[in-house]
Amino acid sequence: MDFHTICVHGYRKKYDITGSITTPIFQTATFAHLSAGQSTGYDYSRMQNPSRESVERTIAALEEGGDAIAFATGMAAAACVLELFAPGDHIIASDDLYGGTYRLFHHIAMKNGLRFSFASTPDSIGAAITRATKAIFIETPTNPLMHVIDIAQTAALARAHGLLLIVDNTFLTPYCQKPLRLGADIALHSGTKYLGGHNDTLAGFLVLKDPALTEKLRFIAKTTGACLAPFDSFLIDRGVKTLAVRMERQQQSADKIARWLTTRAEVTAVHYPGLESHPEYEISRRQSSGFGAMISFAVRDGETARRLLERVRIIQYAESLGGVDSLVTYPMLQTHADVPEAERAAKGIDERLLRLSVGLESAEDLIDDLADALERKDMDGTKI
Ligand SMILES: Cc1ncc(COP(=O)(O)O)c(C=O)c1O
Repeated sequence: MDFHTICVHGYRKKYDITGSITTPIFQTATFAHLSAGQSTGYDYSRMQNPSRESVERTIAALEEGGDAIAFATGMAAAACVLELFAPGDHIIASDDLYGGTYRLFHHIAMKNGLRFSFASTPDSIGAAITRATKAIFIETPTNPLMHVIDIAQTAALARAHGLLLIVDNTFLTPYCQKPLRLGADIALHSGTKYLGGHNDTLAGFLVLKDPALTEKLRFIAKTTGACLAPFDSFLIDRGVKTLAVRMERQQQSADKIARWLTTRAEVTAVHYPGLESHPEYEISRRQSSGFGAMISFAVRDGETARRLLERVRIIQYAESLGGVDSLVTYPMLQTHADVPEAERAAKGIDERLLRLSVGLESAEDLIDDLADALERKDMDGTKI
């Protein structure tokens, strides 16, 4: 079945007798048993719930996985993966990561005895492998600097050393990139972003192909309990129906905006994997069918960045990404505030860097909004 059709029809199991076109919201904590030891297959909603099962099956099909596990947030999905490891285990992770993942690794996982190295290419990942290494965790493209890592090459490395490869596929979604097909063991999502697509709920997913690993992670998920609630499952299920058309349109607009940004004197760098000048453009072309709708860019100084945040009118200055509303984020103060200043500065996550999530508004309106916000104007609106 084609991707577009899976988005709309998802998991076609009919859970009720009414012929309801959508999967009903099974707003129940528990399920009645007919007799001792006899279950309908649903016992307690932390373990199974049809609304959650429906969205899990749809996401698994879109990512070409065997199964998916839905969580309350993307961070809950990442925290569940870390429970696979024991004190002393070593993980190699992307050195540019969403700030919340950085915080999870540095402030929770390290306290619990896990050890980390950070690397940005398959070669540097290879050089960091030790006897204690158990997994490689990459984001590609990375948040916020849009670095791209070759997934197939990293997967070959992981396979050769018996390591688990986890790929955060939040930015591109399975519409553009399929990490499991490229050899990853786990595709991770903040479903809050493109999968939900409307900036109206939080969710997380792990998509897997190996049944034994799935069973281990389901055990951890049901035991630690950060499962996706029935209503939120419904919202993600509904959002996914338009995933393909949203991604297509949003990335077309992002391409126009990224190219326009490169022409502006106030903009000193544009990070978008669809630009031929992007250092990993060729890798992106090879491993993904599109470049997504996330752009980060540096402006000439902090004052220009702050002025843009205050002046945009259609684009909203807010954390998060991937929804129908365009959002601009100031990584230094928002998503990456917990990364130590020196480390941030060394990477270029400084007062000049902005991150733009291109939504579904017209690209021309978004460009006009950015142009107005970038131009230096007097109090009376005259250009200076
Ligand atoms: C790439 C990436 N992964 C994971 C997360 C965490 O997701 P959530 O906010 O749903 O917990 C985010 C959140 O911004 C993200 O950008």
